[in-house]
Amino acid sequence: MNRTDNCGELRKEDIGKEVVMLGWIQRIRDHGGKKFVDLRDRYGITQIVFGPDMTENFGVFSEVGKEYLIEVRGEVKKRPEGTVNKDLDTGSVEVHAESFDVVSESKVPPFSIDSEKRGNIDESIRFKYRYLDLRNSGRKNILINRHRFIHHCRSFLAERDFIEVETPQLTKSTPEGARDFLVPSRNYPGKFYALPQSPQLFKQLMMVSGFEKYYQVARCFRDEDTRKDRQPEFTQLDIEISFSDQDSFIRLMEEMLKEALDSVYGVEVDTPFPKMTYSEVMDKYGSDRPDLRYSMELTDLSNVVEDSKFNIFSETVDKGGVVKAIKFDDMKKISGNYLKKLEDIVKKEGAAGLIHVEKTDKGFEGPMLDHIEESILEDISEVMALDSGEVLFIVAAERMVANEALGSLRRELGEKFCLYDDRDFEFVWVVDFPLFEYDAGELKSEHHPFTSPKDTEKFMNIDRDSRESFENLKADAYDLVLNGFEIGGGSKRIYRKKVQEKVFDLLGLEEKEVEDRFGWFLEAFDYSAPPHRGIAYGLDRIIMLMEGEPNIREVIPFPKSKQGFDYLTSAPSEHREGQLQGLGIDISERFKLEKEDV
Ligand code: AMO
Repeated sequence: MNRTDNCGELRKEDIGKEVVMLGWIQRIRDHGGKKFVDLRDRYGITQIVFGPDMTENFGVFSEVGKEYLIEVRGEVKKRPEGTVNKDLDTGSVEVHAESFDVVSESKVPPFSIDSEKRGNIDESIRFKYRYLDLRNSGRKNILINRHRFIHHCRSFLAERDFIEVETPQLTKSTPEGARDFLVPSRNYPGKFYALPQSPQLFKQLMMVSGFEKYYQVARCFRDEDTRKDRQPEFTQLDIEISFSDQDSFIRLMEEMLKEALDSVYGVEVDTPFPKMTYSEVMDKYGSDRPDLRYSMELTDLSNVVEDSKFNIFSETVDKGGVVKAIKFDDMKKISGNYLKKLEDIVKKEGAAGLIHVEKTDKGFEGPMLDHIEESILEDISEVMALDSGEVLFIVAAERMVANEALGSLRRELGEKFCLYDDRDFEFVWVVDFPLFEYDAGELKSEHHPFTSPKDTEKFMNIDRDSRESFENLKADAYDLVLNGFEIGGGSKRIYRKKVQEKVFDLLGLEEKEVEDRFGWFLEAFDYSAPPHRGIAYGLDRIIMLMEGEPNIREVIPFPKSKQGFDYLTSAPSEHREGQLQGLGIDISERFKLEKEDV
């Protein structure tokens, strides 16, 4: 017989209805000889009552256990007075089982599916048995919301003439700043495909093809250390458009997100999102992905302290550096050990140390205060509007170092003391990024090398040997930041060959290397490429934030561990006999030995 109803849909109006239902047994309770079962499927839970007087084959019940899949036939009844369960949509009714069959037996699961009984289950167990983990309603709903979010974006884009195009997975490296995953080729022994770090170059070629509006829910692969917001394999909502300026494109993207967040999560966000320049966010928040749910802005005290007798202040300012501070409202919360941790955080960013000044009813307190004039402390206190019980954390360093050190401190204090409302969603566009950055003395693209300078004419005229001119160049690039996470990044693209060649040249790529790596792409610029721009959203990150999950592993159906290990399949694993044959690959003795050691 076919199922008549699922486990989430019976209501008072169904009382008296004969039903056939299928579901997994979540809980069994004994009551006066009867068995009360919570029967679960994707849609919800229905209480089924089994009893020797009502269920034909009641005896079989002694053989079933939790997570057995059963088919039940019975009648919908009103629950007796006082037993209505308001937490369940189906809580006003129950089904009295007339007969049932076991459809599929289950071993005792390694952990409880029931949210109330789960407790903290080690991730390695949960992800090894992810198919059981996903039976839990909370875990399952994340994936359903993820689907609804993607579906909404797809419809939004399709309604506006964007075309979804799949781009290759076996391809050539796309430089997005991470290592590639390589795939050996049998037809070309000793050669490799690279899995795409993003579909960047293909979506640009779609613009050269004249498609004008492209999107893709694209799987990307980056061999980099995982973090709570990073996986080696993740999903982007990747978008590209021709003939659009930054403002119109950004407005369109805001409309898409606003509608999707409202319809999937019931979260209303105000648009337009604020826009801040890179230098503004670095100066104010010490980060290019600031969390705007709390203020705690960085304040520049350089001109207050430049004449201080305290050398650390005056000499730093003298050498062109800055003295900056943030204020925290309760020194009592900061233990000695925690202070040490805060110090380590700023040191990791390159600062020499962290100075703290506490205001008490008796005056100022702090370890360095013997060296700082009272009048300077008073001035600082006035500028910072410091109240009794509050504390200032001060860093004196080169501007970028001071910004990043205090930015990390701000993030730490915000997270540790939860200085924000969890259901507050603060978006900000960060624009006007530098086109290049110096990394260990070498010029690198701040985004990727296909990003257009904001002022192309100026870029084409810059003197190749002037370090300063590079530092001042801005890109037509934008990141979308939500609650301190970069959830999307994009830019206008270079579409003229000479400009692209100059970028490669500045990045120190020899002509031959450019030809080998990007010749196939650059050639397209010979055939009237249109001006175009785009963006890619980190879908996993957006869902993680909207779901209030602590890491993106929770919002990915089958994630990898922190170390990139797949608990479910045990990948990566050794190759099977013969699999390497013809690929031109031999495993070095060193790795063979390591394997034996294990
Ligand atoms: P970008 O490298 O900034 O840009 O990536 C876009 C967005 O993808 C997300 N993201 C990740 N999410 C999870 N795990 C990762 N390892 C990971 N790496 C990135 C982030 C990020 O904002 N081709 C360009 C986009 C463009 O210019 O159109 C690109 O990939 O949310």
